[in-house]
Amino acid sequence: MSTTGVFLVRTPNRPAAVIVLAAGSGTRMKSKRSKVLHPLCGRTMIGHVLSAATAVDPRQVVAVVGHGREEVGPHILEEVPDAVLAVQETQEGTGHAVAVALEALRGSGGTPSGTVVVTMGDTPLLQGETLADLVADHETTGRAVTILTGELPDPYGYGRVVRDADGAVLEVVEEREADAVQAAIREINSGIYAFDGDFLADAVTRITNQNSKGEYYLTDVVGIARSAGVAVGAYLTGDILQTEGANDRSQLAALGARLNARTLDRWMRAGVTVVDPTTTWIDVTVSLEPDATILPGVQLLGATVVGEDAVVGPDSTLKDVEVGAGAKVVRTHGELAVIGAGAAVGPFSYLRPGTVLGTGGKIGTFVETKNAQIADGAKVPHLSYVGDAEIGEGANVGAGTIFANYDGVAKHRTTVGRHAKTGSNNTFIAPVAIGDGAVTGGGTVVREDVPPGALAVSAGPQRTIEDWVARNRPGTAAADAASQASARGAATEGSG
Ligand code: UD1
Ligand code: CA
Repeated sequence: MSTTGVFLVRTPNRPAAVIVLAAGSGTRMKSKRSKVLHPLCGRTMIGHVLSAATAVDPRQVVAVVGHGREEVGPHILEEVPDAVLAVQETQEGTGHAVAVALEALRGSGGTPSGTVVVTMGDTPLLQGETLADLVADHETTGRAVTILTGELPDPYGYGRVVRDADGAVLEVVEEREADAVQAAIREINSGIYAFDGDFLADAVTRITNQNSKGEYYLTDVVGIARSAGVAVGAYLTGDILQTEGANDRSQLAALGARLNARTLDRWMRAGVTVVDPTTTWIDVTVSLEPDATILPGVQLLGATVVGEDAVVGPDSTLKDVEVGAGAKVVRTHGELAVIGAGAAVGPFSYLRPGTVLGTGGKIGTFVETKNAQIADGAKVPHLSYVGDAEIGEGANVGAGTIFANYDGVAKHRTTVGRHAKTGSNNTFIAPVAIGDGAVTGGGTVVREDVPPGALAVSAGPQRTIEDWVARNRPGTAAADAASQASARGAATEGSG
């Protein structure tokens, strides 16, 4: 079982399976997209849960899908290619969902023998460590059922954990079935459990739907275990908020903010400076080196990597961008780009996919780059578009240069040689090559290759028509200014 970017938190025995329940509809999102597919901090809701699930290295991940399964199923297989999908045609309750999961597990040649973890698809803050702690507690106590529980100041809506005078877990009572005394209990069922798989497989066949909702409640397994005389207990976590789900977009945003705060905290503890955590967003998939500095208003997304001593920000968004050690990236929008060590980007740069800037290179103000390899020490400092280009080491591209890569039908490449110096306001009509050490004059439109060391100039000689303004625009401020300048010139000449 493997997912990229997941750190395994192994338990002594590999769990037989982690079952993820995700067949519900999630109507309160008011979305055409399934609830568990809504993203936060770099993964979908269910993507976060799957990453926690795979972190405990189970023999199998089984996902129960129903509503929106045409979308949810393929997404799960993208995240965990060898997951087993169990289709629950009608949502008859969590107990029924687990029965469907175990049937699919057996159908795929797997077995529930060992520890089976059950979790839900809409709890994106859940961490692998918590599942590992639950499994360890479950296995060391030798129970058949261990419920992950926690205390909430406002337990409304959750199943309450009812204990006897000695603290032994008696049952889980749902909100709608709870009497006043039970409703006052603050210990809640997170909906996450560790089971002995063989016991669970038998117990789910004994659950009935004799309750106010007419559903098969997985929580009934607690009573079944007690009647069978096998051990039931709870693993009470201090961080129950980790198991919180999102039902609407407001809750989704709140969970996103908490997950982001947790991510920033992790990086700050690892030696990264985050100047303003309230305006900094870092996906869980991003990686940062110690002594990187993130200034206010920065979003680091996807597979972005930021090297040691690099400074990013303020106000930059980088997705799948590699920022080299010591590089500076100011007010930049970048995607699928590589920025070399010690390079400078921005302010106001737009790095599109395929941009590769070498060590000590520069992409400056109001410069857009795409599919452009800009070698070590090469510079594009001002107001330019660089598309489908290769710029050699140490070259300098003048202000206001357009790499005209598109002839209206196809895209073509331009190469600029090592240590070439091209003038301001040039247009390079691709395909074209400017040789190593070549020079171009200001305003040159380069249509033909320039050999190494040559000077290319395409602008015609300047024509100057004396006194044109006085003749054509007499009486204007410009004409007056010109005549005053001429008078001053004459006076200076006279005195000279
Ligand atoms: C459940 C628990 C409750 C616990 C709460 C924690 C039961 C009976 N109750 O209640 O004690 O406090 O979770 O959030 O289990 N699902 C399916 N198929 C179904 C029904 C549900 O896949 O037929 C999935 C849902 O998509 C969801 C999860 O199971 O991810 C929980 O279902 P939900 O209906 O939200 O259970 P709760 O009423 O919240
Ligand atoms: Ca729920």
